Amino acid sequence: MFIIDAFRLTRPRDAPSARQAVLERQLLRYCGGYRQKLGKVGCEKMSSNLDQIYMERALRLALRGQGLVEPNPMVGCVIIREDYDNTLGLEESSQIKPNADASVEEEGDALIVGEGWHQRYGEAHAEINALNMAGDLAKGATLYATLEPCSHQGKTPPCVDAIIAADVKRVVVAMLDPFPEVNGSGVEKLKAAGIEVEVGVCGDEARELNLPYLTRLEKKRPWIIGKWAMTLDGKIATRIGSSYWISSEEARLRVHEWRETVDAILIGSRTAMEDDPKLTVRLPEGRAPKRIPTRIVVDSGGTLSVFSELALTAREVPLLLVFGPNTPKGKKEFWESKGAEVLVIDAPTHEQRLLLLLENLAERGMTNILVEGGGELLGHFFDLELIDETRVFVSPKVIGGSEAVVAVGGVGRELMRKAATLRNKKIEIVGPDVLISGRVNY
Ligand SMILES: NC(=O)c1ccc[n+]([C@@H]2O[C@H](COP(=O)([O-])OP(=O)(O)OC[C@H]3O[C@@H](n4cnc5c(N)ncnc54)[C@H](OP(=O)(O)O)[C@@H]3O)[C@@H](O)[C@H]2O)c1
Repeated sequence: MFIIDAFRLTRPRDAPSARQAVLERQLLRYCGGYRQKLGKVGCEKMSSNLDQIYMERALRLALRGQGLVEPNPMVGCVIIREDYDNTLGLEESSQIKPNADASVEEEGDALIVGEGWHQRYGEAHAEINALNMAGDLAKGATLYATLEPCSHQGKTPPCVDAIIAADVKRVVVAMLDPFPEVNGSGVEKLKAAGIEVEVGVCGDEARELNLPYLTRLEKKRPWIIGKWAMTLDGKIATRIGSSYWISSEEARLRVHEWRETVDAILIGSRTAMEDDPKLTVRLPEGRAPKRIPTRIVVDSGGTLSVFSELALTAREVPLLLVFGPNTPKGKKEFWESKGAEVLVIDAPTHEQRLLLLLENLAERGMTNILVEGGGELLGHFFDLELIDETRVFVSPKVIGGSEAVVAVGGVGRELMRKAATLRNKKIEIVGPDVLISGRVNY
C-alpha cells in the first residue's frame, strides 16, 4: 500500500526563481497522475501557490477511492507542517522512510506529516486517515481536504471533531459538500473552534472529480456513462445484428475494468436478445472486482428469454428487469421466481419510464451507470441529454450497410452547431483500436 510518512518541501523563503523551479518539479511529480487521469484539469493558477500543490496532491489521492467509495464522494487529504525546524519532536519523523512514490526534496522546512484518502464505503474518511498518520504532528498543522469535512455522525463520527481535537491550525478546503447534513456546517464548526479556514482552492477540479456524486445529489439521478464499440463507419452491429467482435480483446478487458467501478450496467431489450450478454465483470485471474454491478435491462414488454445468459445467472449476479405497464400478467412473478428483481414502471412512454428509473436508481444510492447500448437506447439517452460521459472504441473496420445498427440512434440533432461535444477529451490507442473518452457538453 502506498504511504508517505514524511517529506520536505523547499522553504517558502527561497529565492522566487529557484523555488518556482522546485514547485514545478513537484507539481509534475505529485500531480501528474491526477492530471493524466482526468484530462485537462488540475489547478489553473498553479505556478506559485503551495496551497494548490498540496491540494492537487490531495485530489490525486482522492482518485484512488474510485469505484470503492460510492455512494460517498472521493476525498483526499494532506496535512503539512511548515514549522519543521522549530517544532519539538518533529525530528522523530525523520525515522520514517518516505515512500518511493514520492521522492523527497531534501532542502526546506515544510513537511507532509500525514495524508490519506477515503478508501472504501463505510470506512474511515480521508481526514481521519491523514490525522491518524500525523498523530501529534497534526497540532498546529495545515490540513488540505478536497471536500468540506463532515460535521455529522454518519457511518463514522464527524471529521470536524477529529480535526478540532487534533488542534489543527488551518484548514484548506477545495469545495463545500452539498450533502444536506454538511453543506457549509463543517466549515462553520471549524471556524467557530478558532481554526483558520479557506474554501475554494482547486474548487473547479474538485467538482470535476466528484461530478458523479454531485449529479446524484443535485439532479437526483446517477452519472451516466455511454459506452460503445463501433467500426470506422459508425456502426455497432451489421445489418443482421452481428457485433461479436467489433473491438479487440484489449478493449474488452478495459470494459471489464470499467464495469467493476460502476453500480449498474444498463442495456436495451434488443441488445439483450441479439447479443445474449452476461454483463458480468470478468478480470484476469487473481483480480477480484471492486464491486459487482447490477445488470439492468429496459424491456417494456418483458421479452427477455428465459434461456438467456442474464436469466441463467440471475441468482448469482443481481439482475433488474424494468417492465412497462403493459407487460403480460404473471411476468413479474415469473422473473422474481427466477431470482431477478422486477421494477414495473407505470408510465406510458419510454421517456417517462427512463426518467423514473434513473430517479429510482439514485434513491438506491447508485452513483455511476454504464449504458452499454444498443443504438436505440443510447440515442434516447442523448436526445434527453442524459449521457454525462462517453467511452467509445473505434475499430479500424468497415462493415457498411444502411440497415446496419448505428452507434447512436434516436431523433438526433438537426444542426451541426447543436452537436454534443466532449471536454476533458482523452484519445488512447488500445490494441488495434482507438479509445475516445470525455465528458459531454450539450
Ligand atoms: N458494438 C457495441 O458496442 C454494441 C453494444 C450494444 C449493442 N450492440 C448491438 O446493437 C444492436 C441492438 O441495438 P438496437 O438499437 O437495435 O436496440 P437496443 O437499444 O439494444 O434496444 C432497443 C429496445 O430497448 C427497449 N427500450 C426500453 N426503454 C427504452 C428507451 N428509453 N429508449 C430506447 N429503447 C428502450 C425498447 O424495446 P421495448 O419497447 O420492448 O422496451 C427498444 O426497442 C444489436 O445488434 C447489438 O449487437 C452493439
